[in-house]
Amino acid sequence: MKVLVVGAGAREHALCWKFSRSNRLSGLYAAPGNAGTNAIATNLPDLIPTEVETLTRFCVDARISLVFVGPEAPLAAGLVDQLEQNGISAIGPNAAASRLESSKSFAKEFMSHYGVPTAAYQSFSDADAFERHVRDSGFRLVVKKSGLAGGKGVLESEDTEELVAFGRAVIAEGDTVVAEEFLSGFEVSIFALTDGEHHILLPPCADYKKAGPGNTGPNTGGMGAICPVPWLSAEDSQRITDEVVSRTFAGIRDAGLKYRGVLYFGLMVTEEGPRLLEYNIRLGDPEAQVLLPLLGSDFTNWCDAVVNGSLDSFHPSYREASAVGVVVAAAGYPGPYEKGLAVSALPEAPDDNSLVFHAATTLDRDTVRTSAGRCFTAVGLGRDLLAARSRAYATARDIVFPGAWLRPDIGGRIFGG
Ligand code: AMP
Ligand code: GLY
Repeated sequence: MKVLVVGAGAREHALCWKFSRSNRLSGLYAAPGNAGTNAIATNLPDLIPTEVETLTRFCVDARISLVFVGPEAPLAAGLVDQLEQNGISAIGPNAAASRLESSKSFAKEFMSHYGVPTAAYQSFSDADAFERHVRDSGFRLVVKKSGLAGGKGVLESEDTEELVAFGRAVIAEGDTVVAEEFLSGFEVSIFALTDGEHHILLPPCADYKKAGPGNTGPNTGGMGAICPVPWLSAEDSQRITDEVVSRTFAGIRDAGLKYRGVLYFGLMVTEEGPRLLEYNIRLGDPEAQVLLPLLGSDFTNWCDAVVNGSLDSFHPSYREASAVGVVVAAAGYPGPYEKGLAVSALPEAPDDNSLVFHAATTLDRDTVRTSAGRCFTAVGLGRDLLAARSRAYATARDIVFPGAWLRPDIGGRIFGG
């Protein structure tokens, strides 16, 4: 079979790496891909993920049989609707179901309606009403842009003026803002695969969202991840399954959403139990980089079960190991940063326990150049978290470009919210 992976990040490099190990493939393509995917797949640098008609035409002409969509924007733009109209199987929801991520207002209403525990909230499209709410509310708030914001749509701050200015700017752009109660606890990312009728839960992951050690500093797209999460108790897992996952899938059925692909539950585990912060309609980045290496058997078999509706008879297998992923970022990130930096050292992966995934890198003759804020994810696998962590850091420290930095405490326990 011929497979196309849509996207250019480290998550998509990890997807290509996983597919490249299948013995059922006759072709592997990445649109647009990066310097890492270039070594294992055919990159399609001219194909832009949100140009859904051009992308679909390519798939028809090249006889692609399966498309795995990495990022949310092409899903929200209706890529899967177009592909399916043309008889091409895809992993990812259609545009209507994508609103679970692309509209935070829609997602929050969905959660309330189906009894999925979440932070108390209110949505606003009127700036004065929003400002009054922020000034009068007696508790700490988090303010969110409703639409897709590429990870930059949330402000957690104790400064009322900053919250007001952020929300007013969002409303001035014509979007809605969601103001919600600030929750404390620790975060976990739970991924479900669903074929539209059945679902399975994958091992839990945790993403290290803040830039600084000890969970300090600004929010980022994620500076590292681990899988599984030793501090998530069996009791919390069970509550997540019963109170969040099962109610969500019952809601999806009841609302008539056609959801096939990956559903990502971004959760805060509080002292009162799990609270859902958000749905994402895709694999996480950097979570995919630690999750995918732990999935057993041929990855195309997992995908077949999703697109054929046979997840109920699929027997998932997992590698008995822990994985830690450390992001190597450009100086300045998550603020402004330089692109085009020459990478002067890049470790050769010695074996399957040390992996390097590129994000949006480009190849300039023989030189790899950076092109994003988060440039690489170094992944270590090991018997336990400590073994995985030392491999991940050893690999990450061998990635050299000017100003490269990493968060030094990935794998350490995250406290607080
Ligand atoms: P979201 O895009 O909604 O997941 O928010 C991005 C990040 O902001 C989350 O991963 C949390 O770290 C933080 N966050 C979002 N909502 C809350 C909340 N209600 N309380 C505390 N932190 C939050
Ligand atoms: N790791 C956070 C995200 O992918 O949204």
